[in-house]
Amino acid sequence: MATNNEILGRHEVDDLEAILAISNKDIDDVQHLVKADADAIFTWDYERSRPALGKLYEKAKKSQWNVTTDLDWDTDVDQEAVVVANALQQNGGGPVGSEVDTTGTPFEKWTEKEWIQFGIESQNWTLSQFLHGEQGALICTAKVVETVPWIDAKYYAATQVMDEARHVEVFSRYLDEKLSGHYPINAHLRLLLDDIIADPRWDMTYLGMQIMVEGLALAAFGFIHQLTTEPLLKKALRYVISDEARHVAFGVLSLQEYYKELSGPEIRERQEFAFEAAVRMRDRFLQQEVFDRMGIDVKEAVQLVMQAPDRPLFQAMLFSKIVPNCKKLGLLDAGDGWLRERFTELGVIQFEDLEDTGEEYAALDEVAKDREAATA
Ligand SMILES: [Fe+2]
Ligand SMILES: [Fe+2]
Repeated sequence: MATNNEILGRHEVDDLEAILAISNKDIDDVQHLVKADADAIFTWDYERSRPALGKLYEKAKKSQWNVTTDLDWDTDVDQEAVVVANALQQNGGGPVGSEVDTTGTPFEKWTEKEWIQFGIESQNWTLSQFLHGEQGALICTAKVVETVPWIDAKYYAATQVMDEARHVEVFSRYLDEKLSGHYPINAHLRLLLDDIIADPRWDMTYLGMQIMVEGLALAAFGFIHQLTTEPLLKKALRYVISDEARHVAFGVLSLQEYYKELSGPEIRERQEFAFEAAVRMRDRFLQQEVFDRMGIDVKEAVQLVMQAPDRPLFQAMLFSKIVPNCKKLGLLDAGDGWLRERFTELGVIQFEDLEDTGEEYAALDEVAKDREAATA
């Protein structure tokens, strides 16, 4: 039975020193290499034996969209105005940042000017992490095409490779043309992506990427889509969400079948991997690089973030897609309910009975709805 130290490299999940000790030293390098030694699998069984994946594949072919022509890139984006509007929405009208009691903290002397700058940096950081995560998805789904043994899954995964290229393209272009700076990949996110890519077992790529990373992305995109009043980002996210819901459904449908063949100890390894991924993603949202760039003490700032009153809610929201999908796959309660206990400790268990994404992807397909409306 693996310990926290074996899974996470630290005994205490909330050990702040250990969390902040994970950082990237090679941020000026243009390339990052990951050794992946999975087998590429040919199948000679071309029988279309998985109708649910076949249906998803047909949907994916119909719901393709084009970053260049489906979005209005002439839209003017005033980033400062966007930050102020977001803050107004989040705290009901006070000056930016006024919802946090900053007495005795590194933020004590911040005026509205610093809070706005923080909002701008935070947006640059958030979109940069989306961009890098999308490249991770691009690489992972290209890997799934090679490693998954089922023809229906290879077909579907090929459409997802195209989707992910489009997502990298849209976030990259938005950052370049509409925002004011880039951030390198967050160290926790990179650690997780490296683990997912390096694992030779095809189903671990699915679990790490389709269920965990994309499940969180689906929730995070949904949150920002609801919050933002900036029309270009809103539409881009709405379209990306249409694709992401399919991607998570692909993971749920495939693993549901595969996990039935696995033994207790094998399922336990999957539970541990899901837990590791959940912690890495939670840690990445502490946005340590933003505080560093703002020139304030990172440890003090992150400590404050972890204790902020709205933090548990935000964190749980990020897991609102992951937890029901893990439940549907049987990972929550397998064995002695080990993952249920871990998710309870992380404070994210309350979403277990929400609709899982294996069912809801069609309802989230806004691209198809727009196509229908245009031809009606
Ligand atoms: Fe994506
Ligand atoms: Fe995706």
